[in-house]
Amino acid sequence: MQSVIKYALVTGASGGIGKEFALQLAADGWAIVLTGRNVAKLEAVKSALKGSGAAASVVVPCDLSATGAAERLHAVCAEKGLAVDLLVNNAGSGVFGACLDLEPAGIEAMVNLNISALTNLCALFGKDMKARGTGRILNVGSFAGLNATPYFAAYAATKSYVLNYSLALRAELKPAGITVTCLLPGYVRTDFDDNAGIENPRYKNFSNSNSMDADAVATVGLRALNHGKPFVIAGARNSFAAFFFGLLPKTAAPAIMKKFLDSLV
Ligand SMILES: NC(=O)c1ccc[n+]([C@@H]2O[C@H](COP(=O)([O-])OP(=O)(O)OC[C@H]3O[C@@H](n4cnc5c(N)ncnc54)[C@H](OP(=O)(O)O)[C@@H]3O)[C@@H](O)[C@H]2O)c1
Repeated sequence: MQSVIKYALVTGASGGIGKEFALQLAADGWAIVLTGRNVAKLEAVKSALKGSGAAASVVVPCDLSATGAAERLHAVCAEKGLAVDLLVNNAGSGVFGACLDLEPAGIEAMVNLNISALTNLCALFGKDMKARGTGRILNVGSFAGLNATPYFAAYAATKSYVLNYSLALRAELKPAGITVTCLLPGYVRTDFDDNAGIENPRYKNFSNSNSMDADAVATVGLRALNHGKPFVIAGARNSFAAFFFGLLPKTAAPAIMKKFLDSLV
């Protein structure tokens, strides 16, 4: 009897944390649907995959900030007969700067990617999982989503959405046996800062010296997923900071962070 191939769909698999998710999941036997915009990078990650599912892994390029992208990605997977048992909504971008100075087009693309695509992928693949009676979803939020964050205001708000949406979806899908986990990384050593348009060397220095490695963050997320946890904050220092900020009134964290970030930007 032919064994059924289990597919994990990893968005943003061309680099950063997503690449590490793909490598670790493949080593664990999963076949991976690698998606992102940069086909050359996706193909390079596919070539680096090792494990029983590596040969079945596929690259499906997709710009998830485009309208209707989630539907198109879902349709391609259906056409190719790829039954996705694990959805890793990792792709995300940030836009850094004072609220009044940000380009509307950049904000729109970020919201489409961080919110609309993630939400629609959860719904489309979640429906398939529910019909099969099995499946898991890992959504990548951020430590930044736990508090209002000046200069990363819109980005942080998209990540608050990711956490709250994930928790609500988890409650809805629990009776169907599908788990939803949200990973909240703090600073991670990836291209994220550059892609967010952060140029200030002092900020980048600070971020870099307080960053975790992407492979360690992916490991934390996958461990939490395997244990069926609702969410996990990556790193002890970040967990402590989240606990500390949680003790303060809602207005205190943004005030503290503004003062702190003013000293870095
Ligand atoms: N790095 C951090 O400090 C940090 C902290 C907290 C949370 N996070 C979150 O972690 C996740 C991964 O970020 P990262 O640090 O690995 O950043 P990264 O190195 O910039 O990687 C982002 C990934 O998302 C993909 N992506 C970006 N725009 C896309 C689009 N329009 N359509 C499809 N894919 C797109 C990129 O692939 P292509 O370029 O090939 O499209 C890339 O693979 C994000 O959700 C981010 O918000 C990061």
